[in-house]
Amino acid sequence: MLKSVRVGAEGGARPAALVVGVFQGEKGPSGLDAGAKKLDTAGAIAAACKRGECTGAPGSVVECFPAGGAPAARVLVLGLGKKDGFDHHALHKAVQQAAKRLASAKEKDARFELDGALAAGKIDAERAGQSIGEAFGLLTFDTNQFKGSATPKSQWPTITLRPSKSAPAASIRRGLALAESVNNARRWGFTPPNIATPNWMAGEAQKLARGIDTLSVRVVRGAELVKEKMEGHLNVGKASENPPCLIRIEYKPKKAKAGARPVVLLGKTITYDTGGLSLKPTNFMAGMKGDMCGGANTLGAMHAIATVIKPNFPVVGLLVAAENSVSEDAYRPDDVLTFRNGVTVEVTNTDAEGRLVLADGLCWAEAKEKPACIIDMATLTGGVITALGSTFAGMWCEDDKLRGKIESAAKVTGDRVWRLPHDESYREMMKSPCADIVNSNPNRKAHPIQGAAFLSYFVSDKTPWCHLDIAGVSDAETEMGTIAKDTPTGWGVRLLAEYIGSL
Ligand code: BES
Ligand code: MN
Ligand code: ZN
Repeated sequence: MLKSVRVGAEGGARPAALVVGVFQGEKGPSGLDAGAKKLDTAGAIAAACKRGECTGAPGSVVECFPAGGAPAARVLVLGLGKKDGFDHHALHKAVQQAAKRLASAKEKDARFELDGALAAGKIDAERAGQSIGEAFGLLTFDTNQFKGSATPKSQWPTITLRPSKSAPAASIRRGLALAESVNNARRWGFTPPNIATPNWMAGEAQKLARGIDTLSVRVVRGAELVKEKMEGHLNVGKASENPPCLIRIEYKPKKAKAGARPVVLLGKTITYDTGGLSLKPTNFMAGMKGDMCGGANTLGAMHAIATVIKPNFPVVGLLVAAENSVSEDAYRPDDVLTFRNGVTVEVTNTDAEGRLVLADGLCWAEAKEKPACIIDMATLTGGVITALGSTFAGMWCEDDKLRGKIESAAKVTGDRVWRLPHDESYREMMKSPCADIVNSNPNRKAHPIQGAAFLSYFVSDKTPWCHLDIAGVSDAETEMGTIAKDTPTGWGVRLLAEYIGSL
């Protein structure tokens, strides 16, 4: 909807559009805060507040066009919801709607004056500015990237955001920078699988790191993957003409805290999931370009960590990239794979491929990175969609400290998580009559939990570990705020950045 977003200078001439907030139940001019009242020299904003549709309902937008153009040619009276319980989520929701309205109106510049919202005491100007930056930034995601000559070119506008006391320039910039990281992740997830191959993702990671001196990328492929005994990864990838690779992105701070171990972020990066020989039925295959969102969002988080968060300890991103395809080279149900850590796996279903590549990623992380903790993110199971829908990602984490931090970061960012259990009984379900474990128990009981139970065979108790199943939240089935329908959400980019920032 937007070509780009600029941040204007402080103060200056009056903006083309002005946004003020009003709480629900405080309708009428009395609902306006002192700042808005002072600006409302012509009384147009007060008149707009008197209109029936100006309810203050969350995200509602009532516009007025003051005669004489003071204090702006267009004013948006933005519904903030109830004052009681008003928080930054309510603010986010409201700001998204204002951003969409201003983008579709093709306004050239806009200023938010949210003194009343801030005075409610639950948010500060930094949070407000960041929300504004994020909302506008997310609208610059290019949904037309793959439109061709049969679609008229849309002319998307550039908007300048003018900072105010309730939305300072630096915080708007922070929001825009985070949105850029999220949009990068979304773009990788959006790119069709004939373009977005494992090798292409490796190239994207390298391009990303080129401009950022704290990031470096190493790509492990071919004979080196064999030498490293990446058994699951190689098997899943071997039927495709697009060979698998492990993409390792390292963030190294300029001045590192002495002796700090890295946090490892691991992402399932299946660039297409046909199901393999356990082929997906037609209606279940389309959309599987998004099976690399775990990796895409991990890489997006690495970008945010390097450009916005800049912690003083190392962070390593690992993307296990492969295409789960079909050919005479395909791995098969009944194959037994021996993993790096000696665990043997009987393949019962080649469509349970994510856990096989992640198993290698977990083993690699623990053996080679000496991590402080590991967080993996994966579009792992359809079962988690059945369980939690698109509201929460499934979270498995037995380490109280790590879980607490992830839960707090989830609350702050709105990338929400819901805990599901690990238990010895689920690990029992994964036992195989012929190998140590199966990759999928043919009964579908506790489906997403089976995935987590399988993965638990590849991390020791010594390493704090959190598994996030994002199959339900990685894509927007319907429009969600500033995220267009049928585009990736970039879920987890802000969550992981916030988590790293909280350490
Ligand atoms: N990539 C899928 C999971 C998925 C399903 C993601 C729907 C997004 C939307 C995963 O590899 C898969 O195929 N899982 C199977 C596992 C089963 C064969 C054990 C599933 O969930 O049905
Ligand atoms: Mn699958
Ligand atoms: Zn998959």
